[in-house]
Amino acid sequence: MTDATASTANQRIPRHIGIIMDGNGRWATQKGRSRHAGHRAGVENIQPIIRAAADMGVKFLSLYAFSTENWRRPSLEVQGLMMLLGEFLDREVDTLIKENVRIQHLGSLTGIAPHLADKIRHSVARTAHCTRITLCVAFNYSGRQDIVNAVKSIIASGISEADVSEQLISEHLSSHGVPDLDLIIRTSGEWRLSNFMIWEAAYSEYWPTQVFWPDFTPQLLQQAIDDYGKRDRRYGGIGSKA
Ligand code: FPP
Repeated sequence: MTDATASTANQRIPRHIGIIMDGNGRWATQKGRSRHAGHRAGVENIQPIIRAAADMGVKFLSLYAFSTENWRRPSLEVQGLMMLLGEFLDREVDTLIKENVRIQHLGSLTGIAPHLADKIRHSVARTAHCTRITLCVAFNYSGRQDIVNAVKSIIASGISEADVSEQLISEHLSSHGVPDLDLIIRTSGEWRLSNFMIWEAAYSEYWPTQVFWPDFTPQLLQQAIDDYGKRDRRYGGIGSKA
């Protein structure tokens, strides 16, 4: 247990945390560096946060790495992000396996270069046996498109209208097997969901921070979890204070 995690004993820990890793570009601009350097710094911050989340007892961590809307960015930036994912998987999968981290991909592999799509499939397969924490990587991801794809696959399977339920839709999303989000953290001071896991976020708590993603720390993760522990989750009811 690290210092940052020591205070989590006996505390309510979110089972599933999502992070919208925003602000790489502004972080880089403030330092007079390229946007690519900002994304690279962002990728370097991923492993320490996975490790801290696992140490704190979080079982599912979802990271928003590339949305389908991000294809609108200049092609050099898009290529850079694709390259960074490939490098991340090449460099980190052995460590993730050692640390018992399972990777699940959220989103679509269609449109991603075949060699990168293969790398993603291979990383998911290689870590399939890991049980300490599941790292969901939302890459080429759109929450709405994920729901559309779920509906299409339900219709294609010939299920009757009477059998359509919330649970069935959840089972057909790319987050199948992953519980709904408990807590969403967004860095860089923005207060938007930006099409991130909109189905799974139905009753999530939110924790925005001004800090840019490359500067996000295990201590801030701990603070978010501490604040989450004080929230009264009412799910439309009247809660514990009634
Ligand atoms: C937002 O910063 C960041 C993204 C586009 C997604 C997060 C991406 C990473 C951390 C790097 C890629 C990760 C992997 C695993 C490949 P921004 O560019 O929107 O920042 P800005 O709002 O300050 O411009």
